[in-house]
Amino acid sequence: MIELKNINKSFGTKKVINNLDLVIPDGQILAIVGPSGGGKTTLLRTLAGLEKADSGTFLQDGEPFDPASDKHQEQVVGVVFQDFQLFPHLNVMDNITIGPRLVLKEEKEVYTKKAQNLASLLGIEELLYSYPFQLSGGQKQRLAIARAMAMGPKVLAYDEPTSALDPALRQQVESLILELKADGVTQIVVTHDLVFAENIADKLLKVEPIG
Ligand SMILES: Nc1ncnc2c1ncn2[C@@H]1O[C@H](COP(=O)(O)OP(=O)(O)O)[C@@H](O)[C@H]1O
Ligand SMILES: [Mg+2]
Repeated sequence: MIELKNINKSFGTKKVINNLDLVIPDGQILAIVGPSGGGKTTLLRTLAGLEKADSGTFLQDGEPFDPASDKHQEQVVGVVFQDFQLFPHLNVMDNITIGPRLVLKEEKEVYTKKAQNLASLLGIEELLYSYPFQLSGGQKQRLAIARAMAMGPKVLAYDEPTSALDPALRQQVESLILELKADGVTQIVVTHDLVFAENIADKLLKVEPIG
């Protein structure tokens, strides 16, 4: 279980996250909905360790952790960003394995096998030697999910997973997230799409811009 207690974050004088408390039970889907400017992306960046919270506590199974600490090689929350942030010059295999190789320092056999398994799980196993520009939007998203999962996070978080996709693909993302849930993956889904959120979420958190 991941818990956030009293998290605060400001940019200069602008408060973006105000005394946020959150509990994410294992295996569940938490949807965070709210309008643009509500601090949703900032919260995910904070969970991924890309921003540092000004104050507050993060707990994993009751143990405090600092997502922004570089000592913390094992990632607690893996984030699939809205624009996917794939490496354009690396093929699918290398996009998935770069973290396990350089950060986790895994052996080639281990990261290669892991990438193959993740690619199969996500239905992109035929594309391991393709480059991002050769993939559809839905395939890029699946690659971004595989890359995040390769780091072995306890929780997988998505920033607006339906926004970069054709409306017809929304259903597919929904199914994928629910399949991962059936596999036991704990997930956070940030969206401004309330219908989508209600379809997938065990728990819904509504955020509003502050002030
Ligand atoms: N790095 C940053 N520096 C300054 N202000 C920022 C930064 N990132 C986000 N903000 C501001 O924080 C607020 C929340 O942004 P964001 O987290 O992107 O919200 P959302 O994802 O809900 O649209 C916005 O007013 C935004 O301009
Ligand atoms: Mg955002």
